[in-house]
Amino acid sequence: MRVLLIGSGFVSPYHLAGWAKAGAAVVGIVSPDESAARARAQAFGIPEVHGDAAAALAALKPDVVDICSPVACHVAHVRLAARAGAHVICQKPLAESLEDALDAVRAARDAGIRLMVHENFRFRPWYRVARAALAEGRIGRPFYLRSDLRMPGTVPTQRHPVPWSLQRQPFFRKLARFVVLESMIHQIDVARFLLGEPSSIVAMMQRVSHDIVGEDVASLMLRFPDAQAILERSYATLGADDPPAPSETLRIEGTKGLLTVSRAGEVDTVVETPEGQRRERLMVDTADAYARSYAATIGHFAEALRRGTAFETGPADNLRTLDATFAAYRSAEQSTVERLPGAMLAPHLAWLGDIR
Ligand SMILES: NC(=O)c1ccc[n+]([C@@H]2O[C@H](COP(=O)([O-])OP(=O)(O)OC[C@H]3O[C@@H](n4cnc5c(N)ncnc54)[C@H](O)[C@@H]3O)[C@@H](O)[C@H]2O)c1
Repeated sequence: MRVLLIGSGFVSPYHLAGWAKAGAAVVGIVSPDESAARARAQAFGIPEVHGDAAAALAALKPDVVDICSPVACHVAHVRLAARAGAHVICQKPLAESLEDALDAVRAARDAGIRLMVHENFRFRPWYRVARAALAEGRIGRPFYLRSDLRMPGTVPTQRHPVPWSLQRQPFFRKLARFVVLESMIHQIDVARFLLGEPSSIVAMMQRVSHDIVGEDVASLMLRFPDAQAILERSYATLGADDPPAPSETLRIEGTKGLLTVSRAGEVDTVVETPEGQRRERLMVDTADAYARSYAATIGHFAEALRRGTAFETGPADNLRTLDATFAAYRSAEQSTVERLPGAMLAPHLAWLGDIR
């Protein structure tokens, strides 16, 4: 499998390590920042660097294009790859609007290429363990989920005078839609992964930092057919872990007991029995979990492509996460409860469901 990587920024080393682990050959890196791309290519032994994606596709004819460019470029890059007949794995969010995401999926379908969104949080080891525990019925029927991460990511601290997240990913400063579209999209996806499809969403958002243009604090409430979820994230919380904890904390309450994920990724259950509360820590390998979640996502893509099996986060799945994400903005802007799937996605679910 010959892979062309588009983008050489923050996520690119995680992707390159993932491809190496999957046994695929990355044959080139595309980036307008050719000196950064060259440094990255040298570090990972990648033979070619190109400044232009179309030229790289024509020269290298890859089997797969891995899109790690900014979100504003994603749809154009999916179209270019589709035109060149290359399968695509694209970093989240697939697009800046649901219309654009649908266009990207149509382009892939019409070209007969396969498309998966790189949504790595559901591949974090503690969420895989949590889902297996729910499937086993360990805590009975889950009826409540709460996911929360708070950090001083956009506000300066004594330790990080340039706020931690803005130093790490400077483009956060300019995102008109920040905490939900860039970060909480993962929490929405994990909530779907654990509870199934939500039927409505309500959101509140605000901007606290003066160093960014988008929102950096948000609370989302999702209704599921027989459960409810609260998702929270803040990049403006002084007094929280600095740098931030590895994981959101997660709490799922079920009809037989409780499952929690700590900020270090430890999974614990407490089950009510006739003999009293039975406490158990479930086995999770938390070592290097951030990098491993990228490798697991890429490994899943490569394996499903080789075998011709379904992607977990193919278009039909991921557009539901995106739909809820954009519905959250409508809810926050208009103080509404937004039904899911939204009116724009609903008519497309049948053909999306036919995509392998
Ligand atoms: N899954 C995760 O956990 C996670 C974490 C961080 C970022 N992301 C996502 O990954 C994507 C990239 O984020 P990042 O943090 O690496 O950003 P970044 O700004 O660090 O890197 C973006 C790269 O794209 C390149 N680029 C810009 N315009 C381009 C163009 N027209 N053609 C080709 N390359 C171009 C830049 O030169 C840079 O190398 C975003 O969609 C972001 O949301 C995902």
